Amino acid sequence: MDRIPPNKTMANGVLPALPDRHEIGGDMMARLDALAAHSETGDGLTRRFVSAEHRAASELILGWMRDAGMAAHMDAVGNCVGRYEGAEPGLAALMMGSHQDSVRNGGRYDGMLGIVTPIACVSALHERRERLPFALEVIAFGDEEGVRFASSLLGSRAIAGSFEYDALDRVDDDGITMRDAMRDFGLDPDAIGALARNPEDILAFVEVHIEQGPVLEAEGLPVGVVTGISGGDRLEVTITGLAGHAGTVPMGSRRDALAAAAECILAVEDRASAGDATVGTVGIIAAQPGAVNVIPGNVTFSVDLRSPDDAVRRAMVDDLKGEFAMICERRGVIVAIETPHEGRAAVCAPWLIEQIGAAVTAEGYSPRLLPSGAGHDGMALEPITDIGMLFVRCKGGISHNPAESITAEDAGIAARTLLRFIRAFRKTPS
Ligand code: GLV
Ligand code: MN
Ligand code: MN
Repeated sequence: MDRIPPNKTMANGVLPALPDRHEIGGDMMARLDALAAHSETGDGLTRRFVSAEHRAASELILGWMRDAGMAAHMDAVGNCVGRYEGAEPGLAALMMGSHQDSVRNGGRYDGMLGIVTPIACVSALHERRERLPFALEVIAFGDEEGVRFASSLLGSRAIAGSFEYDALDRVDDDGITMRDAMRDFGLDPDAIGALARNPEDILAFVEVHIEQGPVLEAEGLPVGVVTGISGGDRLEVTITGLAGHAGTVPMGSRRDALAAAAECILAVEDRASAGDATVGTVGIIAAQPGAVNVIPGNVTFSVDLRSPDDAVRRAMVDDLKGEFAMICERRGVIVAIETPHEGRAAVCAPWLIEQIGAAVTAEGYSPRLLPSGAGHDGMALEPITDIGMLFVRCKGGISHNPAESITAEDAGIAARTLLRFIRAFRKTPS
């Protein structure tokens, strides 16, 4: 086995151990801006799975990975995978990364910050000719949000060996199946199974992500340490009533699918508001035939239900399914419910919380612990490896919105914190 050259001996003052936070943060912001140029929409960032924008963003990311001294390639599910060998080739890896896709009209930091930060850290190690007693991998997952095919965490599920193959038959808004879209992009759906990693080859998965909430800003902290990720279910609800003339059908004889959906949506709001730390959202609704003078005969809507506690979430989902059935029966319409995504809650490993917290402390900040209400790739990876997360303050706690914003200084602090963590990282059996 070839030995990798040892660390460069650093003459005094040639390369400081940690890069300057303003310089590294500024470089990261320039990369985030360059990625944001690859959007399907001008108003905010829209980058869906296996789109032209996914291709363009991946080319940038793969180039940055190679510049940082990594061997890099796109895998069969559209992830960009970069690897920086340790003191000798083939060692188990500390895996880091996040997703390159976005919601519709989202922001430029959700996901992307968790790609440029570890690349910046690997680049700093590479400049210093530093090799560690383990390898580093950075993955830019092709899909986490699940916007295009309503099935999320596609990239990280493939790595975890839990890719759901039925999802390949799902269609996008243009009726294109995921399988065909992947093939058109040059990917090989038949090779997804081979992406599953052997857990022994991964030491841990650590993700840097914007907080997407207000806690760090309120407490004047640039970064925080995540304790766990809420579980979430996504439902697709279809209500079938009877289309009819808006002027002639008496109110008492209608089977209005949209009025039934409205009652169901309010039930989601009521039930989620009544739970302990539960949240519920209806973000998509479509009514057919969609004319001002026609009673809607068919409605589809999405439901997103989350809780840090899986049992609490399941109870909420069961209650709402029962309530939808009652509402629809009373209104003489038919309801059908599909669950394209079900994600259980994931707990961050205490030893990673401790090591990430130690890096935050060393950077001069109090290691604030906080949970994540948003979903992340770690949920898919937690069954095969221990996970940890570093949150970064974002302006007003706003996310999934073009107004999403962070400062270059906070990006620089996140990179320095992650670099401290990487250098001190020691796998601790849990
Ligand atoms: C991902 O952003 C999610 O939490 O839906
Ligand atoms: Mn998101
Ligand atoms: Mn995200």
